[in-house]
Amino acid sequence: MTEKTPILSVQDLVVRYSTGSHTHVDAVRGVTFDLYPGQSLALVGESGCGKTTLGLGLLRLLPRMGSVPSGSMQYVGKNGKKIDVLKLSHGALRRWRWEEAAIVFQGAMNSFNPVMRIGDQMADTMRSHLVGGVKPSKSVIAEKSAEMLRAVRLEPKQVLSSYPHELSGGMRQRVLIAISLLLDPRLLILDEPTTALDILTQRAIVDVLAELRERLGFTMIFITHDLALAAELADRVATMYAGRIIETGSVRDIFSNARHPYTAGLINAVPPVTGELPTLASIPGSPPSLASLPAGCAFRDRCRFAEEQCAKTDPVLDLIEQRPEGMQHSAACLRWQEVHSKREVVGADV
Ligand SMILES: Nc1ncnc2c1ncn2[C@@H]1O[C@H](COP(=O)(O)OP(=O)(O)OP(=O)(O)O)[C@@H](O)[C@H]1O
Ligand SMILES: [Mg+2]
Repeated sequence: MTEKTPILSVQDLVVRYSTGSHTHVDAVRGVTFDLYPGQSLALVGESGCGKTTLGLGLLRLLPRMGSVPSGSMQYVGKNGKKIDVLKLSHGALRRWRWEEAAIVFQGAMNSFNPVMRIGDQMADTMRSHLVGGVKPSKSVIAEKSAEMLRAVRLEPKQVLSSYPHELSGGMRQRVLIAISLLLDPRLLILDEPTTALDILTQRAIVDVLAELRERLGFTMIFITHDLALAAELADRVATMYAGRIIETGSVRDIFSNARHPYTAGLINAVPPVTGELPTLASIPGSPPSLASLPAGCAFRDRCRFAEEQCAKTDPVLDLIEQRPEGMQHSAACLRWQEVHSKREVVGADV
């Protein structure tokens, strides 16, 4: 059972990239959600919809041209204290990351220092933090590093003394997961952690993540293009489109009862594993440019449900089914009542 207070509460978050001295784009445009302890939220959507930007924004890891002009992020720490993430000082933020919240990036190689052994990189991460209120000793660091490597099913003896290039892509990705968990964060964000890997390696990492979650009970945001992975690893799904969450609900609600034509289209574009192969439909067109979003609904040019009103109103998330602990099903579509998912929605005619 999860507790009743969200671990993370995000309100109207905007993430902006400046693109020139007087120009900018908002890659995240007013995102609101609550995440409860132990939940796993999959963030899905097409390339460029703002998934990574949202993940980086949540950890305040944006590049220099990125900023958060408005919105709020409240986080409840291990000690039960509320933390206003956007107000954390530089030092407090450094501690908050790793000790409370960590992120695993796609493309493991870039996250390592190529000339440092894995053991030293793990030690470096731990040394600048407190463990149980004190600076960790060499033996604590060695013990914890080995424990976390074993937890991701790697042999510490071999891996600790290796350089990143001596490990396979799958091993490196596991090491990154081990490093991210060194300081027992309560919130783990994974940005496409398996995308560059072959299918068997991908499978192994998904199994490791499911096992770790079960054992350590951290809360997870899992960013992925892969709906099958989302269904497997998440309790909840949020679909993003042009910087907004346009539908959210439990895995079951999203997969069997999607009510936003875009989510329904995404689901219909995935072939079923069993049964007859239906005519798969892709979603016509491509996402709008963030620099010149049309008035009204950002999806309307690609939507076969679009009507006159959709050009005038930019719909907000409308409640479809109330459920506890952030699991409610909502969709930002004026016509969600007419959208019935499962392969009839975006049919062969599109
Ligand atoms: N540093 C940056 N400066 C300006 N615009 C950026 C920057 N980084 C990302 N963007 C823009 O922000 C939008 C969202 O990008 P983001 O990388 O968050 O998408 P994504 O959903 O993670 O995509 P993908 O699935 O390809 O990883 C895109 O339109 C992108 O062009
Ligand atoms: Mg991304």
